Amino acid sequence: MNETLNTIMTRRSCRQYQNECIKEDELITILEAGIQAPSAMNQQLCEAFAIINKDLIDELAKAIKDVFDERGDKKPETYHCAYHAPVLVIVSGPEYDSRRVEDGSCMLENMFLAATSLNIGSCWINQLRDTQNVDEVRNILTRIGIPANHQVVGCAALGYISSQSTIKEKKKERIHIVK
Ligand SMILES: Cc1cc2nc3c(=O)[nH]c(=O)nc-3n(C[C@H](O)[C@H](O)[C@H](O)COP(=O)(O)O)c2cc1C
Repeated sequence: MNETLNTIMTRRSCRQYQNECIKEDELITILEAGIQAPSAMNQQLCEAFAIINKDLIDELAKAIKDVFDERGDKKPETYHCAYHAPVLVIVSGPEYDSRRVEDGSCMLENMFLAATSLNIGSCWINQLRDTQNVDEVRNILTRIGIPANHQVVGCAALGYISSQSTIKEKKKERIHIVK
């Protein structure tokens, strides 16, 4: 199997990270892989905001937890939607762009694969999707630099792997070859 296929076949979501931040050149490589993704009509409207400030990631995770709690979806005190990963990349795109979910998802998958190829753990973090427009969360996104007209597509937690998640088998019956 070639290196690219091996990376695709071995990528798995990581939910336990070492505290140490990944190296800056590794982060830049992952972000550059992200922007190589295809985009509808080559518009390249989605952007990636990589947060490497632990306090800021914790503040965001706490604000998200508070929204869930207030909505009656009470989370344990230890809940941290980004699993204390040292890096959180937020991918967002303009609200008017009807293809931002597709474009942003391509960017995220490119980043997951690039991370895997560098032995860096990654996981899609989705909790901003339904909490991003609550004032307390949006204020933090604004401080991060996310434009007011952007909607978050998804996030990538990144970090050196502390413990591998269980390997989830892929359902092969989803493949159909039509002759
Ligand atoms: C749209 C989307 C949202 C996801 N949201 C989360 C999430 O919020 N937290 C999490 O731990 N994993 C999340 N995941 C990761 C999935 O749980 C994971 O991909 C799935 O269990 C298969 O495992 P694998 O990635 O190791 O193959 C998400 C994945 C996708 C594609």
